[in-house]
Amino acid sequence: MAQDVSRRDFLKAGGFAGIAAAGAASLGIGSIIGAPEVAHAETVTVTDFVYTCPVCGQSTTDYDALVKHFTESHPDAAVPQCAALTINGNEIKVQVEPHWTLKETLQRAVGLTGNAKEMCDRGGCGSCTVLIDGRPALSCSTLAVEVQGKEIETSEGIAADPTYRPLVEAYVKHDTAQCGYCTPGQFTVAKYIISKYGDPTEDQIRAELAGNICRCGTYSRHVQAIQEAATAIKEGN
Ligand code: FES
Ligand code: FES
Repeated sequence: MAQDVSRRDFLKAGGFAGIAAAGAASLGIGSIIGAPEVAHAETVTVTDFVYTCPVCGQSTTDYDALVKHFTESHPDAAVPQCAALTINGNEIKVQVEPHWTLKETLQRAVGLTGNAKEMCDRGGCGSCTVLIDGRPALSCSTLAVEVQGKEIETSEGIAADPTYRPLVEAYVKHDTAQCGYCTPGQFTVAKYIISKYGDPTEDQIRAELAGNICRCGTYSRHVQAIQEAATAIKEGN
């Protein structure tokens, strides 16, 4: 799946200005090792990685080159670790700390901030939900190194998938985002609901979204948007 979706385009198209503001406020990527150089750019391309030596600051676009440099130049320091992740169809090596959660990794090292904002960070709100091997999972409660070899899908990847374009359009039409903090998590679960049920009932949608808390009270709008999108996807529109 192409990952060169413009995050801003998605947010604009989705009317998700709140998410954009929240994501920008929560980034602070500049000093983080292994951050993609496009982290603040309009287009998030997760293959454009720069790996930076945490000792001397030398940068390279190849993780193995970083390890070689590190071993030769700083033999007494611990070699930076990486996780091999598959995110929205892209296989990437991400420079991480072993204790980093998937949410931290998406935010700090990958630059995909839709599902990775500063929310409860303790498994209570659902805003950080991503799909792992097709099932919803809380990225704040999952270590990045745990999900190596699994398919990780974020709201950016779903929005870039032409099949789920009707879901983006329905989210716009039904104005699902108020402050927008919960919206990427709800949107991600929405894809899961449609792929699981095809034509979900209101009860099924409400049950599946039960772990996604919206303090702005947009729940009914998600039901309407998901049902409308499910019909459009089923009819091939
Ligand atoms: S931030 Fe993960 S559940 Fe709230
Ligand atoms: S839109 Fe504000 S928390 Fe859901």
